[in-house]
Amino acid sequence: VFRNKLEFFAAAKVSSSFPPVDLPEIAFAGRSNVGKSSLLNALTRQWGVVRTSDKPGLTQTINFFKLGPKMCMVDLPGYGFAYAKEEVKEAWEELVKEYVSTRLGLKRVCLLIDTKWGMKQRDHELIDLMERAQTKYQIILTKTDTVFPIDVARRAMQIEESLKSNKSVVQPVVMVSSKSGAGIRSLRTVLAKIARF
Ligand code: GTP
Ligand code: MG
Repeated sequence: VFRNKLEFFAAAKVSSSFPPVDLPEIAFAGRSNVGKSSLLNALTRQWGVVRTSDKPGLTQTINFFKLGPKMCMVDLPGYGFAYAKEEVKEAWEELVKEYVSTRLGLKRVCLLIDTKWGMKQRDHELIDLMERAQTKYQIILTKTDTVFPIDVARRAMQIEESLKSNKSVVQPVVMVSSKSGAGIRSLRTVLAKIARF
């Protein structure tokens, strides 16, 4: 699946401009700067199709990418410390919330968490929302190259424990580094099961 060409095909600032659903969709959500766009690039090995940046808040629209005829990958705008006016930030958050709770065809949300910082209030809010909407999601710990392996393992265990009684979560927590490539292959294996065959 991940050998297919990644092609950008739609961007949406409002839900009325979401493209029609025709493929299984996997979305990447999480705080600003957590590494969503980088992970999409690493998974597909197609650097540059998805834009990344040091500046939090680069992705300001919901961006839809086709992975050949198999799957749609969706890069969501990050929540948290974007360099934007309060009302603009709120509009993005509402858009993300609407997307994850209502989108037909959405098969999985990958909720990215920075290994170093762990889960924050906004992450919990999104989790609660997905639980209510019965949207399947899984937790991805990112930037594992920035902390000691023992701390990565400890963080993963802590999160798995805290989500133990949730119904829509897909366990276990996946640990990746887009920089070193660690965990990328196993995440591909997990996500490939969602693709159309
Ligand atoms: P927004 O679009 O602002 O929400 O950010 P994003 O979540 O898409 O993050 P992005 O992929 O643009 O990455 C943000 C920064 O983190 C960039 O400077 C990346 O180079 C860096 N980064 C991403 N993945 C990794 C990683 O695995 N390890 C390290 N050390 N840095 C990473
Ligand atoms: Mg981004």
